[in-house]
Amino acid sequence: MQIQKRIVPQAAPPSLDPKNIAFGKIVTPHFFCCEYRDGAWRDARIEPVHNFSLHPAALVFHYAQAIFEGLKAYQHDDGGIALFRPEMNARRFNASASRMSMPHVDEQLFLDAVQELVKADHAYTPPFPGSLYVRPTMIGVEPCIGVKSSSEFIFFILTLPAGSYFPELPSGAGAVDVLISESVVRAAPGGTGHVKAAANYAVTLQVITQAKEVGCAQVLFLDSAPQRHVEEMGGMNILFVDGGELVTPPLGGTILNGVTRDSILTLARDMGLTVREHAYAFDDMMERIRSGRITEVMACGTAAVITGIRGFKLENGARIPVGDAAPGPVTSKLFEQLQGIQYGRVPDRHNWVTQVVPAGAAVR
Ligand SMILES: Cc1ncc(COP(=O)(O)O)c(C=O)c1O
Repeated sequence: MQIQKRIVPQAAPPSLDPKNIAFGKIVTPHFFCCEYRDGAWRDARIEPVHNFSLHPAALVFHYAQAIFEGLKAYQHDDGGIALFRPEMNARRFNASASRMSMPHVDEQLFLDAVQELVKADHAYTPPFPGSLYVRPTMIGVEPCIGVKSSSEFIFFILTLPAGSYFPELPSGAGAVDVLISESVVRAAPGGTGHVKAAANYAVTLQVITQAKEVGCAQVLFLDSAPQRHVEEMGGMNILFVDGGELVTPPLGGTILNGVTRDSILTLARDMGLTVREHAYAFDDMMERIRSGRITEVMACGTAAVITGIRGFKLENGARIPVGDAAPGPVTSKLFEQLQGIQYGRVPDRHNWVTQVVPAGAAVR
């Protein structure tokens, strides 16, 4: 599908020092938008960002028919700008659409729309260690009070300059404390934990607020079974260094197949590490941390990259420190490799990087 463009020239972008950008607050001047009506996507366009006018009965307001994605464009040292594995996001977007009874977006349209939008607002891409966060979203907008799938949808994409995800780590690297949620469950077998349904995030907001109140940056969720296996965090996957091996919970339908997780497992194998997918029972994980067998724990995701976890807090107030130093040596090595590829500083041996803006184009 042809993408129409109405690009309005802008004054110089605001200061893009990654240390001063609050994550998620600044939206670039243009967005991509198209509508699904009468069984087809129509009117693909890039235009100045504007408010939507929706009927109060739009299905998304009542039954949460909404999905999204998150990926990033990175400014390389030569001024070029590149996306990291966008085709994985296109595929996952359609997996989410299937689960939420929404229409697929042709993968090529998804990729073209992301690329054209990044090109249009590329001047808003902060230099290293910043990035341009890309947020594709789909909502069901048919006005109808009735539990059914919408017949009309909007697919839109926003871009936002991003610095560090965690305000307490302005340089992007470091370690945080994480609250283990023993009472709130995020996903259950047969549910939607493996896709990016907006409602998955709404159900975590209460416990995220509680986590912040006790100095934790994220929440680790356990599964819904009585054994309480470790799953993932509200917006990140989790990895452990256990007896020198890299261990992460398996993709069993209740956790997200993270692009970062997949990339780290590949890089770890390249580095000669043994990689194992294993779901720790909560008590076993605690015992291994206390005994020093687990030496490092890390959170990973597009927004957070790779962040060390220096300690866990429990709902009863206890704090369990992890290892001697966070981020530990394996965490730091994986962080350097991953960021190196994303910023064009390390050879891209797996063809993960898609150049969008040629060298020399970006303002540094
Ligand atoms: C629940 C959840 N888990 C894991 C991730 C990490 O996925 P990715 O590496 O694709 O960003 C995310 C981020 O999108 C997420 O929301």
